[in-house]
Amino acid sequence: MKIAVMASEGAPYAKSGGLGDVMEALPAALSRIDGNEVVLLLPYYKKIKENPAYPVEQVLYFDVHLGWRQQYAGLMRLKNRQDGVAVYFIDSDYYFGARPGAIYGDCDDGERFAFFSRACLEALARLDFLPDVIQCNDWQTALVPVFLKAQYYYQFPNTRVMFTIHNVEYQGWAHGHFFDDVLALPWEFRGCLDMHGQVNMMKGAIETADMVTTVSETYARELMYPYYAHGLDGVLAHAAWKLRGITNGIDVGTFNTETDKHLPVHYNADTFVAGKAACKAALQAEVGLPDEPDTPLLVMVTRLAGHKGMDLLCYIARRLLWEENCQMLILGTGEPQYEHFFRDLAAEFPNRVAAKITFNLGLAARVYAGGDIYMMPSRSEPCGLSQMNAMRYGTVPVVHATGGLRDTVPPVDENGENGLGFTFQSYNGDDFLWAMKRCLNLYHWNRDSFRKLQYRDMCQDFSWNKPANRYMELFRQMCG
Ligand code: GLC
Repeated sequence: MKIAVMASEGAPYAKSGGLGDVMEALPAALSRIDGNEVVLLLPYYKKIKENPAYPVEQVLYFDVHLGWRQQYAGLMRLKNRQDGVAVYFIDSDYYFGARPGAIYGDCDDGERFAFFSRACLEALARLDFLPDVIQCNDWQTALVPVFLKAQYYYQFPNTRVMFTIHNVEYQGWAHGHFFDDVLALPWEFRGCLDMHGQVNMMKGAIETADMVTTVSETYARELMYPYYAHGLDGVLAHAAWKLRGITNGIDVGTFNTETDKHLPVHYNADTFVAGKAACKAALQAEVGLPDEPDTPLLVMVTRLAGHKGMDLLCYIARRLLWEENCQMLILGTGEPQYEHFFRDLAAEFPNRVAAKITFNLGLAARVYAGGDIYMMPSRSEPCGLSQMNAMRYGTVPVVHATGGLRDTVPPVDENGENGLGFTFQSYNGDDFLWAMKRCLNLYHWNRDSFRKLQYRDMCQDFSWNKPANRYMELFRQMCG
């Protein structure tokens, strides 16, 4: 099958969050399936362009029209990709290459990604790569199915489009006149993009794509409710017949306790007791916590954002520290009020709390390895990847049972058996505290069961093989 994957970010070239990780692993997993030909299209951001690790050759150039605008686009092919994925970058100094900033956040983001979506279709047509399936992701490539149906249908008569929602919070809103001024689409497409007189790109994709997926099965169900859908519940309910959930995997090549170059000691499911103890001691030394092998180390690697459940953690943190014997380590950056909170907490409990307000991949790996318990009380979580990283490194998750957390962390029974972690159902600080206490009790009073639980966590298959096959199943359904 010929598959074209399009996204605004993809590790290792450019990444701001989980989407970038998925765009590293999913195309690779699809290309390992016999008979598949996979191309990945990404914007040619300044930092990719300036990175000598990514040599490219120019294969094409053409103009892209957006209303009255006419902009140059170059198609650059990455020369040193090792697996079967053909990686192409869309080059435009005007929209990407000469912008100093981060990936997102410019005032013309809508126009930038409209350009990118259109340029991807132009590039495929000119390459003569007529995919069976286009898989596009989040609002930045949401215009792909709209453009395809409106203006590229004759070039791609047999191409089906799957639109994948990684996070429904960011929908690609634009002013109403964006429709005529930038998109310049035939009037009959106004309805699918219109929401309250404005343009909503994600809505356009939901209505025009052949299939819509999201990154876990529970999140697909949750999206039917206003609480989760950020205004798109009606639109999604209407599209429920073509909406599916596929739970992400993680890159088990990178997240591998036997080879991870960031770890002081390597271990596996048979040697984790000694291995994690050594990693914990090294981690305590690195972050300035006392070397206490039998004090449970509670950890979290996260963006410090409200929807990650920071409000719950702030609400219970002091009670947890007063009532329980434990250490706490937080790694991440984000909203100032949470950065301040954890800095203050570390100052108040210098021997028990460490707050590393930074972004550091190496330290993140050492936290997954050296921690005992991983906290992830997200208010909503389309999939979540770090709970899987934690389990793979033998760190027991305590999570809010929502979205992908609910699908990847089945709860243990009252003896700590059977499941993979501890969960709480309603988004509430006391329920979170109680789940933490149950987990800590198991650690303190039934270390055998706790270790068996760690062993189960480490033995799970979180690889991309299963999800990639599920994508293939849906691709085949779409192609009839
Ligand atoms: C988004 C979601 C996260 C998901 C990731 C990859 O970042 O918030 O839950 O794991 O996308 O799909």
